[in-house]
Amino acid sequence: MDLRASLRSRAFPPRFVWGVATAAPQIEGGATAGGRGESIWDRFARRRGAVVNGDTPAVACDHFHRYRADFALMRELGVRHYRLSLAWPRLQPDGRGPVNARGLDFYRRLLDALHHHGITPWVTLYHWDLPQALEDAGGWRSRGTAEAFARYAEIAVRGLGGRVRHWMTLNEIPTFIGHGYRLGVHAPGAREKPAVVAQCHHHALLAHGHAVRAVREFGGARAEVGLAQDLSVPIPVTETPADIAAAERELRRRNAHILAPLYFGRYATAEMRAARRPQPAVRRGDLALISTPTDFLGLNIYSGEFVRAADRTTHEVVPFPPGYPTAGLAWLRLAPQAVYWALRHCHAVYRPRKLFLTENGAGYEEPARGGAEVNDLHRREYLRAHLEQVQRATAEGIPCRGYFAWSFLDNFEWAEGYTKRFGLVHVDFATQRRTPKLSALWYAGVMRENRVL
Ligand code: FCB
Repeated sequence: MDLRASLRSRAFPPRFVWGVATAAPQIEGGATAGGRGESIWDRFARRRGAVVNGDTPAVACDHFHRYRADFALMRELGVRHYRLSLAWPRLQPDGRGPVNARGLDFYRRLLDALHHHGITPWVTLYHWDLPQALEDAGGWRSRGTAEAFARYAEIAVRGLGGRVRHWMTLNEIPTFIGHGYRLGVHAPGAREKPAVVAQCHHHALLAHGHAVRAVREFGGARAEVGLAQDLSVPIPVTETPADIAAAERELRRRNAHILAPLYFGRYATAEMRAARRPQPAVRRGDLALISTPTDFLGLNIYSGEFVRAADRTTHEVVPFPPGYPTAGLAWLRLAPQAVYWALRHCHAVYRPRKLFLTENGAGYEEPARGGAEVNDLHRREYLRAHLEQVQRATAEGIPCRGYFAWSFLDNFEWAEGYTKRFGLVHVDFATQRRTPKLSALWYAGVMRENRVL
């Protein structure tokens, strides 16, 4: 193959969506500005020992005041699509009651600023910042939270639908329930029994269903909606039919509690039994609501786990040996093929109309030196290796239509506070100075040329 043909073979399909992602509680700050209410993360971060260094999201990247400059920088880098989230406590300070007009105005101005720069918004309704008042009334343990979410989704879609075409309902149900209500390491810091956790998942899925309906009803004819899901991804140790079948089986089993109700409208599957997960209490109509068809499935993929077949029906997970390389955090083990197998197996098993990689990125640290380029070759290599796997999937005809790098800015990384940096753009949190890293400049080229560079 000559060089030109070789480079062409790394291309993505025409109209592939290239973007960057963030979330409100990680970048906005402005914790009490414009009538915003308290979120579970504001409260949790004040708990002693909950967040590294006692960091809080109160100021974060101060994006609340700096969004215009941030969008100008996005535009300079050639970003055309931006995944952001809305802060529920900004729109409904207590999670119930009438809309907070100042919050709605803020998002209208923000979306207009994006439009001004020619950047298309992809809006997530819930990226973990539950209004504290709802947590006080039971949080995701309570069906009332799903019902409150239905009204919130309606407020958001009615108020902003003219400016937004692409909606995501909730971000990573397994993580915010698992970390927040089972392990107690994320807000609200609870440790519930498996049956309560299963009920929390169910309520979050109901919230998703309500939001899909809100978008269908109030979002306009061209609106699209889907879930952003953090899949647990099994990777075949070898690419042989036996290991590949094992990886698919394991994917169904691990993700059954979310994807079986979503795509098959039921909990009672062989996979749920195999995973020994308790089934939640379900009311009539719940599963029809949860399985309301969506337009796409968003996948947040950072890592995976290796599996291999033992015999024709059983398989085993191969543990990571000590010293296995990571991308800056213990859970973020380097396994770029996770992206390919997630896309391939999701497409094969659940047949979503379209797929998007709604998050992927690395949490390496790198020093910023006064205005000079921030050298993050490690992040660049991480992203490049993962994009090669996305490209492989698209070249095989799997309907993956876009990729959002996590994250545009270094930000408040939940319980890690500001100690872990995922940004393409470095943020000096003392001065709020932004400096594009080497990876941002490289990614600008990828977006421009629509191929792995
Ligand atoms: C994901 C979250 C996102 C970010 C990355 C690193 O689980 O959705 O907000 O923190 O991890």
